[in-house]
Amino acid sequence: MEIQVFNDYVELSETAAEIVATEIRNNPEAVLGLATGSTPEGMYARLVEMNRKKEISFKDVITFNLDEYWGLLPEHEQSYHHFMYQHLFGHIDINPDNINIPVCTDVQVDRLCSEYDQKIAMCGGIDLQILGIGINGHIGFNEPSKNLTVFTHLVDLAEETIESNSRFFHNCEEVPRKAITMGMGSIMFSRKILLLASGRSKAEAVRNTVSGKISTEWPASLLQLHHEATLLIDRDAAGLI
Ligand code: GLP
Repeated sequence: MEIQVFNDYVELSETAAEIVATEIRNNPEAVLGLATGSTPEGMYARLVEMNRKKEISFKDVITFNLDEYWGLLPEHEQSYHHFMYQHLFGHIDINPDNINIPVCTDVQVDRLCSEYDQKIAMCGGIDLQILGIGINGHIGFNEPSKNLTVFTHLVDLAEETIESNSRFFHNCEEVPRKAITMGMGSIMFSRKILLLASGRSKAEAVRNTVSGKISTEWPASLLQLHHEATLLIDRDAAGLI
């Protein structure tokens, strides 16, 4: 796993955006795996700017988001649909037909999940997957567990995740208890992976990710097995390594 440490969040976001931009310039039909959370916001802002200045085009890019809260309609202001339109899709020249985010209101959840994986496969797999990391080591919403799931699935959110993500809701009770997430396999099959982590609150998460011990109880540690995974972290997040 390659690790790059930056002075601050701005530098980290700038580099992340440059890596995505290079991927798109090299392959205008790139398939991107996208993440939500506060960490990639700076990268998305920079990509929007590059698109506005016509330095890159998303016209033929295809995207697959990692996850979505179960039960939140796309219009809900805390849904990941809403997040993606607010921070990226609403401001770039992407074809809406090329945007894929799990829609979490369909009762036929198994079908929805397998169709999501089939669509990723039909598009030739993910070229570049962007990841954040939860303070408990989750990626997407693959929570620490004795067993991890390979493909897209419905998952029960961990208590730490509910508590941590409650900052975006009025209170803890409002946070959905379940989500649809790409599985660890869906993520690990990506050709390249870019994990972003910023701030002191992520220092322990980063240490456990790169420490050498690989465990399903720390899902991000599986990235050590990926042949092209890069960690972009700022100095605060690198504080314990
Ligand atoms: C959520 C998302 C993850 C994200 C994590 C960290 O739980 N499902 O994909 O990595 O939040 O978010 P933040 O970047 O806000 O710390």
